[in-house]
Amino acid sequence: MAKIYGSITELVGHTPLVELKNYNRQNGLKAVIIGKLEYLNPTGSVKDRAALNMIEKAEKEGKLKPGGTIVESTSGNTGISLAAFAAARGYHLHIFMEPGCTPERVQILKAYGTTVQYYEDIPGFHEIIANYGFDKERIIAAMQKFADDNGYYYTSQLTNDANWQAHIKSTGPEIVEDTDGQVDYVVMMAGTAGTLTGVGKYLQEHVPGVKIVGVQPDLESLFKPGEDRDTIDGVVHFDNHGQSGHPFIVKNDFHYDEVIDVDGTQVYAAAREIAQSDGLFLGASAAAAVLAAKQIALRLENEGRRIVVILPDDGGKYLSTRMYKED
Ligand SMILES: Cc1ncc(COP(=O)(O)O)c(C=O)c1O
Repeated sequence: MAKIYGSITELVGHTPLVELKNYNRQNGLKAVIIGKLEYLNPTGSVKDRAALNMIEKAEKEGKLKPGGTIVESTSGNTGISLAAFAAARGYHLHIFMEPGCTPERVQILKAYGTTVQYYEDIPGFHEIIANYGFDKERIIAAMQKFADDNGYYYTSQLTNDANWQAHIKSTGPEIVEDTDGQVDYVVMMAGTAGTLTGVGKYLQEHVPGVKIVGVQPDLESLFKPGEDRDTIDGVVHFDNHGQSGHPFIVKNDFHYDEVIDVDGTQVYAAAREIAQSDGLFLGASAAAAVLAAKQIALRLENEGRRIVVILPDDGGKYLSTRMYKED
């Protein structure tokens, strides 16, 4: 039967689950690691879900008018999703890039016709840094003011409920449906924590006993200006001694079961291993989540259990890092 879609926005979601059979066997794992291939979304990342939901909510609420401009600050993937959907729906996109983004991301954004600036270009940014340090709330307020002053729509992914709700609508239900509810763990990193909060809340409501595990870069694997590290892009160190200060997690009174720290250099090695074992060419946060899942799979009590890992993007945007450069 013929099937022709009217727009790339119709292609978001319904990503497949794939067992990492060879990786599991090579590592002697008795639990089953299953990847959710979020890089098969139309712009290549999990952020397509949140970006589309934020745009559609703004359209419904009349906040985004035909030909309007969307503004956002991002480390890349949200920007790329917004850029493609803005192009497809006739909007313009203006992005302020976070420090530490790979150059591939800037190039991709520009290809979609996006105006790209950097955090230091946000009006008032230098005053905030000088007086308060890297104060996210003040940066968000400065972004809102920039949008209001110019008549733009600020999607504000860190505070917009349409972000985490996208995963209640689609990602969570897809995991439950595709596993027939037979899932013991769901494992993922967090940037805005939209995926962790939305998927976690949905799974906890629909799969009794499921464990939700957050993964974070250890403190040595976070980007620091001027330092040469094997970093994990687009994600944060969100948990401090069992407490998350992350807005969506706090606001939703959401409780994850565990958090696992990973080291950037080990993540890069895992990414190369997985590319060669199962043909999955993963981005850093995806490889990090698999590495954390391996720790869970090695626990004796987890024999035969099913671990679903969110694989947010693929390796294409990381070619300028050391990830896929052989020693
Ligand atoms: C590569 C990558 N992995 C993971 C995430 C985490 O997604 P979320 O913002 O839903 O926490 C993001 C985005 O923030 C990302 O770009």
